[in-house]
Formats: sequence, C-alpha cells, structure tokens
Amino acid sequence: MNKPVVYSGIQPTGIITIGNYIGAITNWLKLQDEYDCIYGIADLHALTVRQVPAEYRARALSFFAQYLASGLDPRKNILYFQSHVHEHAELSWILNCFTYIGEMQRMTQFKDKAAKHTDNLNMGLLDYPVLMAADILLYQAALVPVGADQKQHLEITRDIAIRFNNLYSPTFTVPEAYIGKQGARIFSLQDPSAKMSKSDPDPNGAVSVIEDENSIAGKFRRAVTDSENSVRYDPENKPGISNLMTIMSETGGMTIEEIEKNYRDKGYAVFKNAVAEAVIERLRPIREEYTRLMADKAYLMDIARDGAERAGRIARKTLSKVKRKVGLVELK
Ligand code: TYM
Repeated sequence: MNKPVVYSGIQPTGIITIGNYIGAITNWLKLQDEYDCIYGIADLHALTVRQVPAEYRARALSFFAQYLASGLDPRKNILYFQSHVHEHAELSWILNCFTYIGEMQRMTQFKDKAAKHTDNLNMGLLDYPVLMAADILLYQAALVPVGADQKQHLEITRDIAIRFNNLYSPTFTVPEAYIGKQGARIFSLQDPSAKMSKSDPDPNGAVSVIEDENSIAGKFRRAVTDSENSVRYDPENKPGISNLMTIMSETGGMTIEEIEKNYRDKGYAVFKNAVAEAVIERLRPIREEYTRLMADKAYLMDIARDGAERAGRIARKTLSKVKRKVGLVELK
C-alpha cells in the first residue's frame, strides 16, 4: 500500500439509515480514489447486544450488499467482515492491557448503553472502544471517516496508539478523525434533539437507505417540525426544520442558502415533499442495485472472501510487529 490508509466501519444492527449514509458513507465515497480504503462490517462489535443468530447473519450480509450498492467499489476498496480477520480480536486483547478501566468507564457511549442495557451489561460493552482501536490501528489508518458521535472513540484510539508507541517504539500510525462539516449529525425525524439511530424503536424516526418510496414519503410527511411555518436554518430554535434542510442539502445537492431561498415561504407541506423527493431520487439507484446484489449471494461471498484475504495480509503484518515488540516468542 502506498497511499495513506482510510479505515471505517458500521455495526450490523438495525438498519443503515440516511444518517449513516450522510454522516459516513458519502465521505467514504469521496475518499475511494485518493486513499487506500478499508471498510469493515463491524460484526464483532454488534455482539455486545443480543442478536438472533439467523437474523443477524442475514442482516450482516444485507449490510455488506448495501455497502456495495451505495457505490463502494470492491476493486478500489477493501470491503470485508471484521469477524473474518481474527487479528482484530487478537490485537484487541493486547491493547486491553494498555487501556485503563477508568478510561472506558468515562466513554459517553458506554454510559448511554450501560443505562439502556442494564439486563446485559457485558464486558464487550465496556471494551467496545478497544476493539474499535484495534480495527483502526491494525491497518495503520491515517484517516477515519465517521459521524460526530464516534469522535470520542477516535480520541481514545489515538491515546492508546500514542501510549504504545511511546512505551516501545513507533508501531502504529496515529489516526485522525474525518468528520464532515455538515451532516456529521443527522437527527431523528420524530425527535430532532436525538441523533437518527439505526436501532430506533420508533420506526418513524429513521429512514433506511433501501426503504420503499411510499414509506420514505410518509416519514417525511410526519416529521416533527415547529409551528412557525417558515423554512429557515436555525438549529437551535428550529431543530426539526434545520435537520430536514441538512438532509435535503446532503442528498439533493442544493446549499442551505438555496433551500432557504426556494422554500422559505412555501409552507412546510411543500417543503417536506421536496425533501422526500430529494431523498427518494438519491436512494433509488442504491435500492435497485441492492435488490440485484441480494439475488447473487455467491458474488457477495466472493467479494467478502477477497476482502478478508487482502485485509488479513495487512493485519498480520501489524500484529506480528506488535507481538514482537511486547516480547512474545515468535515461532520461526
Ligand atoms: P455505527 O454503526 O453506530 O454508525 C456507523 C457510522 O455512521 C455514523 N452515524 C451518523 N452520522 C451522522 N448522523 C447520524 N445520526 C449518525 N448515526 C451514525 C457513525 O458516526 C459511524 O461513522 N463503532 C462504530 C463502528 C465501528 C468503526 C470501527 C468506525 C467499528 N469499528 C472503526 C470507525 C472505525 C459504530 O458503532 O458506528
């Protein structure tokens, strides 16, 4: 590999939402020519919550097809399943020994999840950021395109990398987060104070990238706004409308100023329909390609196998370096 490396991933939980698409995948698409990009399905991460095995297997494969359908080219990028490269779990163990419990307990996502999953507060939830650090550091990634909610996990990844490099000698590239200016945080259509979540129990809060067109239109029609009836960007006082403007801008290509100029006094019903239209148009080719790909599982598995082999080669190199540095005996 000679270009700088980009690494990112999505957990196969719930649905891939337009939040994931705007916050993460659209940035991945921009990077695929200039960088060596590696995108994983973070299927070990999602085991931190209980999954129904048959559903989980099907969902992970569906997510993989959605990566491809979104326009990620398997010749330009390495696309693979995290669980197919066992070096992730192995490096994660070693990095555990360089991470403090207090650091993990301070992670806001851990605190949120711990409050939500009181019945299954497992070690994986606490350890989640270390596995994420292993994902990134295994590939010597320089850049990690994520939404704003992952910023803290990136900071701890950097801390772990710097700590290890200082204790031994430079081993890991210290990665930077790449967070888009706009669209780094897309909010729920039903509660514009909460991020759009892929596992939102309210089906009206999030839109999937492969969703049926009528259903998309209905969700935007029902989106929570305000009583002012003026399309104006003001995230503080008009979070619902501002969120819709961001979504429209990110999917339809108009700037926020252009949207404001065109829709300011048109009324919310007209504006909501226009947002839905922009989203539907943008997602149509993705859904069509997805349907085609899901009918060809053998092709999907070929891509996954090839991705795992290519990822594995890079991962093995880093892991053997790490093992040597910490003093494990090598089998020569
Ligand atoms: P996950 O699966 O929750 O989300 C995948 C990506 O989508 C971004 N995102 C959003 N962006 C904008 N608005 C939203 N409402 C929104 N919701 C989610 C996330 O920031 C993320 O970029 N831990 C990661 C997965 C992961 C990973 C990694 C990422 C595992 N290993 C290594 C980067 C590098 C996660 O749970 O993302």
